[in-house]
Amino acid sequence: MSRPLVAVLNGPNLNLLGRREPALYGHETLADVEELCRRTADRHGCDVDLRQTNHEGVLVDWVQELRESAAGFVVNAGAYTHTSIALRDALVTVPGPVVEVHLTNVHAREDFRHRSYLADVVAAVVAGLGPAGYAAAVEYVATRATRSAVAPA
Ligand code: DQA
Repeated sequence: MSRPLVAVLNGPNLNLLGRREPALYGHETLADVEELCRRTADRHGCDVDLRQTNHEGVLVDWVQELRESAAGFVVNAGAYTHTSIALRDALVTVPGPVVEVHLTNVHAREDFRHRSYLADVVAAVVAGLGPAGYAAAVEYVATRATRSAVAPA
């Protein structure tokens, strides 16, 4: 039987992690963060689908593609968090839990980062924990997925 799938979507500029404003975002790369997600999901009996794009419409396409097959989503939409009604509308259609993640504490930063178009339609928001926030979010989604799975007869 296939294992539940946790979709981990990263938005614009997160491909530059490790090289992008390291004082703010740290020295770990996206590959490091994705490996952490993979290990966390695996520990909870889940697989991961790890994706990054700089394009808003691609994020919407991926949510539509995975909304039925993924047990839940972990999403760091980067700056689209603060601008994208399209991504919000897509995430509302997801039956499983969605967790919004930010490496930094967006509430301690510029005013325009305090507003999230996603926060009130997701199960949880994790901000300011760095890469550990992804692990917490993956663990939450994976635990929900495996708990609700039908036990084999
Ligand atoms: C971010 C915070 C956003 O405001 C910013 O645009 C990002 C990264 C974070 O992970 O802290 O690109 O989502």
